[in-house]
Amino acid sequence: MASLLVINGPNLNLLGVREPENYGTTTLKVIEARLRKRAEAEKVDLQFVQSNHEGELIDCIHQARVDQIDCMIVNAAAYSHYSIAIYDALKAVQIPFIEVHLSNIYKREETFRHTSLLSPIAVGGIFGFGAESYDLAFEAAMKMIRNK
Ligand code: DQA
Repeated sequence: MASLLVINGPNLNLLGVREPENYGTTTLKVIEARLRKRAEAEKVDLQFVQSNHEGELIDCIHQARVDQIDCMIVNAAAYSHYSIAIYDALKAVQIPFIEVHLSNIYKREETFRHTSLLSPIAVGGIFGFGAESYDLAFEAAMKMIRNK
């Protein structure tokens, strides 16, 4: 069975209440449930994780190599903009991944969000579609998995 890991970084557990003008009102639980339904229909094993801790996210990325995960969807949240450690971990495991953001990071007011360390090593990125960014990333991941 093909396997897909969705990794969510810090503060994404607060989706639904956190800055709805930037991130919408859909909770992470709802996003997870939606993806689980789709994964079931596609007969793909789905792991879905969220952590507010950089080291935990790195351990999870390392574990993905051990588990032979086929593809990852990664919203590293704020870590996307500055975590060399997460960049290194993603580079090390050599598992193709799709970068996701709910907001269009290039359109955000804070210029520190306009850089993602992860984009250059991602297969591609989807951002700006709110919670639907995850659905679009799931479709892209399925295409990658099927074409493998
Ligand atoms: C985010 C964008 C990041 O800049 C921010 O730190 C987040 C969420 C997004 O999904 O739009 O936490 O990754």
